[in-house]
Amino acid sequence: MKTPKRIPLLALLFLLSIFKISAQTYAKNGMVVSSNLESSKVGRTILQQGGNAIDAAVATAFSLAVTLPSAGNIGGGGFIVFMDSIGKTTTIDFREKAPLAATNDMYLNKDGELVKGSNHTSIKAIGVPGTVAGLYMAHKKYGKLPWKDLVQPAIDQAKNGFIFNWSLYRAAQRFTKEGNDNAFMDAYFRKENGAVLEPGDNWKQPQLAATLTAIRDKGKDGFYKGEVAKKIALWMKENGGIITKKDLKKYEAIERKPIEGTYKGYTIYSMPPPSSGGVALVEMMNLMEQADLKDIEFNSTAYVHLVAEAMRRAFADRAEHLGDADFNLDMPLEKLTSKEFAKQRFKGIDMKKASVSDSTKFGQLYDGQNTTHFSVLDKDGNAVSLTYTLEYSYGSRMGSEELGFIFNNEMGDFNPQPGITKGNGQIGTAPNLVAPEKRMLSSMSPTIVAKDGKPYLVIGSPGGRTIINTVFQTVLGVLEYEMRIDKAIEALKIHHQWLPDIIRYEKHLLSPDTRDALESMGHTLKPTNNLGSLMGITWDAENKVMTGASDSSSPDGGAAGY
Ligand code: GLY
Repeated sequence: MKTPKRIPLLALLFLLSIFKISAQTYAKNGMVVSSNLESSKVGRTILQQGGNAIDAAVATAFSLAVTLPSAGNIGGGGFIVFMDSIGKTTTIDFREKAPLAATNDMYLNKDGELVKGSNHTSIKAIGVPGTVAGLYMAHKKYGKLPWKDLVQPAIDQAKNGFIFNWSLYRAAQRFTKEGNDNAFMDAYFRKENGAVLEPGDNWKQPQLAATLTAIRDKGKDGFYKGEVAKKIALWMKENGGIITKKDLKKYEAIERKPIEGTYKGYTIYSMPPPSSGGVALVEMMNLMEQADLKDIEFNSTAYVHLVAEAMRRAFADRAEHLGDADFNLDMPLEKLTSKEFAKQRFKGIDMKKASVSDSTKFGQLYDGQNTTHFSVLDKDGNAVSLTYTLEYSYGSRMGSEELGFIFNNEMGDFNPQPGITKGNGQIGTAPNLVAPEKRMLSSMSPTIVAKDGKPYLVIGSPGGRTIINTVFQTVLGVLEYEMRIDKAIEALKIHHQWLPDIIRYEKHLLSPDTRDALESMGHTLKPTNNLGSLMGITWDAENKVMTGASDSSSPDGGAAGY
């Protein structure tokens, strides 16, 4: 019965493989979806050359460090969730670390008050970068092609240049504006003759190319030891920073067991601490499983209420319990991700009335969109879900001109003031206080959902703490509401993070009637322009059809398949 159907399907796939149809692309042999289409194509070329999903992910990550310097990086950190072709799943933690000289009062003045901005905008906001170590570990353990072949495309892009796009131009305008006092960022977006780069210009980054060349030739040591490390340490010292050669030399990526959950027959794999993403995602999916969703229409009042109540609870637990696993040995991960816990938690949800977040306890701040995620699937069914970040857009906005890359400001993800939790969302709980060599708590949620032991959905997003919720709603859209991946990515998103006790919703996506109904239940609503920028792939393993979709909120993003 199946044979006659295969011919038109293959013909269709061929046609679809050469056209990008709206934000969605089909492929048969491999797919990369990232926030920059040129970088997705770099990953696709690696797949076509016989590389596996890890090889393609490494090449894409280095390429994004060139094409998307707001978040793509070698000066930051992140996480990989990897499922191989036989269904074995693991994660690689390459989150930044606090330097050895860090202390839990390093952002306070002598009166114990938080010095405004010190944990986000000073040189002491920079954590020890993890990206190069993470990519190197991923390649060493699971890659196939030579390391050099994976770094070379990024070197070529940095050395020969690529077309300066509109998003870069907008950043260039901002950083070169009259009155901007950041000399590093001002110079970053100028040509040799001093003029500001414009859309359509060929942007070359020779210093970054040289740093990448050291990484290509010496692997991890090309960044953490030798000339590059020496220059980082010197630049730190000259500018009042605290990261030393010893910090760099000691940095190691860590392979960790994924957080695992189930949802109606699917298995969810996501990132464990130091990311809170996996625990919160599984907790929320478990809560949704308790509800009778067949009677709850997508986007209805009941849907938004229930989703927001699930978020409220997961974020309260996140604030109370989660931090770096190596410093918090007693985190109740099993309990938080168990069906029994969800059952108890669900009993507290009143479907007619909003709960109240207790502002005398814990809370979290709302962050912007300054991270980047990409998804990769190869012909054998190896899948990579990778999210990495500099924290703010363009991170600390600091770096050594000689090295050509930007450092993160990830120390801002620690709780800055021990014991002080405020109604505005600043928290002071112990699990996520600063300590030497500790990793700061993250919300990054690279996720793979499996069906019958094979990847079914590969997904993730930028967006600070909104990441957890945008990934949650996309997973729910695909699994529960049977949405095609591009529809689930574009569909309404809301965000609630316990404190502040507000539902943020994407403007124009909630009807006035729904808003009135939610307000009368006790919810406070606030519109926002956009939540998340999801990059995802679904796989119909039986028919060998990959569907990739990039969020329209990333205008330069795209799926590259073959
Ligand atoms: N810097 C954003 C996060 O790690 O969640």
